[in-house]
Amino acid sequence: MEKLFLTGGARLEGTVVSSGSKNSTLAVMAGAILAEGETILRNVPAIGDVQTMMDMLRALGVKCEATSPGVVHIDATEIEATEAPYELVKRMRASFCVLGPVLARKGYARVAMPGGCDIGARPIEFHVRGVQALGAYVNMEHGFVEAECSGLKGGEVYLNFPSAGATQHVMTTACLAEGTTVIHNAAMEPEIVELAAMLTKMGACIEGAGTTTVRVHGVKHLHGTDFNLVSDRMEAGTFAVAAAITQGDVRIENIRPDHVEPFVLKLREIGAVVDVDDHTMRVRSNARPVATDIMTMPHPGFPTDLQQLFAALLSVADGSSVVVENVYERRFKYVNELVRMGAEIKQDGRTAMIGGVPKLTGAQVTASDLRGGAALICAALCAEGETEISGLEHIERGYENITDKLKSLGAEMYALGEDRERENICV
Ligand code: UD1
Repeated sequence: MEKLFLTGGARLEGTVVSSGSKNSTLAVMAGAILAEGETILRNVPAIGDVQTMMDMLRALGVKCEATSPGVVHIDATEIEATEAPYELVKRMRASFCVLGPVLARKGYARVAMPGGCDIGARPIEFHVRGVQALGAYVNMEHGFVEAECSGLKGGEVYLNFPSAGATQHVMTTACLAEGTTVIHNAAMEPEIVELAAMLTKMGACIEGAGTTTVRVHGVKHLHGTDFNLVSDRMEAGTFAVAAAITQGDVRIENIRPDHVEPFVLKLREIGAVVDVDDHTMRVRSNARPVATDIMTMPHPGFPTDLQQLFAALLSVADGSSVVVENVYERRFKYVNELVRMGAEIKQDGRTAMIGGVPKLTGAQVTASDLRGGAALICAALCAEGETEISGLEHIERGYENITDKLKSLGAEMYALGEDRERENICV
């Protein structure tokens, strides 16, 4: 897709099925590098980031194939290359996390440094200190991190901030280290628990995943496994916001109730009626949202990935809201685009002050990152007139069939393809 055109005003109604979790998939794909044998992943979402990780595994000489929709086979019995190229790491930061697994298997890995991105600096020093604590010698020059070891050894790792990526990376790498590794101030995101579940199925010994202290008792080998990916809590949050902002009635199937809890409570605060059972959440609303305040925090706090989406929702709330971004310093690039649609938002550093307006109006806007792009889609769903969204490559990185799913709920939208022909026209 090149551009998306949305005509706002349709009340979203119906049922949508949540796809597999992007962040879980990326973490377990890196984890599969540790196994001698074939790993089969199921419920894998068809999104750009998964394609990038598949390209990365292939660049390392690992066999990786999508055999049917949602099913990916990875066989890392042989790892032919130890270098991860800049072209792939710069496309997606999560691919940096192949460093530790390749190092653990081959005793050497050279991975390009990811650099910054549109939501903040996103450094890698926790990752680097983590592999150093396991006994690796690390050299950083010419834009690459080069790590070498003659056998990893368990160590103590303290994270200055509970980084999800660093927790996953160190936990994965430590599986093949000799002895016990302890990660202090670990992140507690559900994706860490899922990764630990897969590594355990592969023969690893991990305690405390999902708490602030993770212990990994190293083993000599890991074997392949068959693993079903959990559903994507951020995608569920996106459809929940789409339901609330259109004053609609949407059932989201295949969710994990414990994973959606941090934002369900906020949805109720803004006046939506939310029912959650074992596998489904239903979000209903028949009025403007009520203003509220949001502070993003590491899990189980309010997720930073939903900050932009809730800001879009609060931009049409009755009253003023304050949104504080505590995880990334620059996750506010979407603000100017929402202002072009009539939102009243003032941003200062990590804080956005939102004066709710009765309506937004369609405009030409550009997505500059994944969730910011999804926030523009949600804003467009309730805006008066047509909104033209470009920068769709960001949205396609992380959402499977988002246009088809929204259209099935009654959204009026169509995509313009590369050839500038209108396609998927829906009224
Ligand atoms: C992951 C998620 C992303 C989510 C984020 C926070 C994936 C692919 N992405 O990103 O969707 O928004 O968790 O929940 O899973 N930091 C450092 N030094 C480091 C590493 C991180 O200072 O070495 C800082 C970052 O700048 C940021 C904070 O830690 O301020 C949290 O980042 P982190 O949890 O590492 O995010 P990711 O794992 O990259």
